[in-house]
Amino acid sequence: MTQRRLDFARELARQAGALLLERFEARRFAKASSAATEFKGRRELVTAVDREIETLLVTAIRERFEHDAILAEEGVASPRGVADRAAEFLWILDPIDGTTNFVHGHPSFSISIGIVRSGEVAAGVVMAPALGGRAGGECYWGGPLFGAYCNDHKLSVSTTTAVRDAVVATGFSYGRNEMGADTNVERFTAALMEARGIRRCGSAALDLAFVAAGIYDAYWEKDLAPYDVAAGIALVLGAGGSIDVLETGKSPLWDRQVLASNGRIGSELRALFDAL
Ligand code: IPD
Repeated sequence: MTQRRLDFARELARQAGALLLERFEARRFAKASSAATEFKGRRELVTAVDREIETLLVTAIRERFEHDAILAEEGVASPRGVADRAAEFLWILDPIDGTTNFVHGHPSFSISIGIVRSGEVAAGVVMAPALGGRAGGECYWGGPLFGAYCNDHKLSVSTTTAVRDAVVATGFSYGRNEMGADTNVERFTAALMEARGIRRCGSAALDLAFVAAGIYDAYWEKDLAPYDVAAGIALVLGAGGSIDVLETGKSPLWDRQVLASNGRIGSELRALFDAL
């Protein structure tokens, strides 16, 4: 059952990825971006392309799996943020994860399709159409019972055992200026001073895919939505990594925080953060 949906999601991601790449290339050097861009908050952008891709995804999924529930970032399927968490199958979609990058012409953006079955993250596809050179995009796919792949290459997490030898990644909330916001600056500084390297590439879904691929040894972020992380969680688990949280008792899917790692350095990183 999940396999059928995963195969469908891969095909759909390829199709939507081709359209997204076309839109990206058309606007990349044209500087037409601001005209077609709106703000959801002080920093958070949304474009007509986000809605176009989301409509394509939602329409195709509804046609094929009419009884499945859908949660999609721009609210095409259901009011923004409202999910039918009791459904047997729940699709969690981000039409462009990394909209800021997309708007600014940075190639690190992706389409994220997560499949939750009976409340558990079962499978995911993260399609990065502007990466991958001659391969024509990088399509990351898999899940806990499927393994994880980039196009046809099987993935596994890195074998790094210490944060000092690690390259880690993170991100910063759009709401960082709000009163009392957790800016992530302290964690960022602690990791920066301990790890080999630190990256902030602007697509949480891809950051998680890179943990699955062993490119990053760990990734953490707060203030994330389920559409940013659902598919990526499936990939990390499929590649043998671990998914944790920054605060005990929270859900990495629903509670806006995740700490993903190769399973070897996660506890050291968490201890570093807990000591702050
Ligand atoms: C954002 C990206 C970014 C992360 C933000 C997300 P969006 O998703 O994943 O890396 O730092 O927290 O909201 O808004 O581009 O879909």
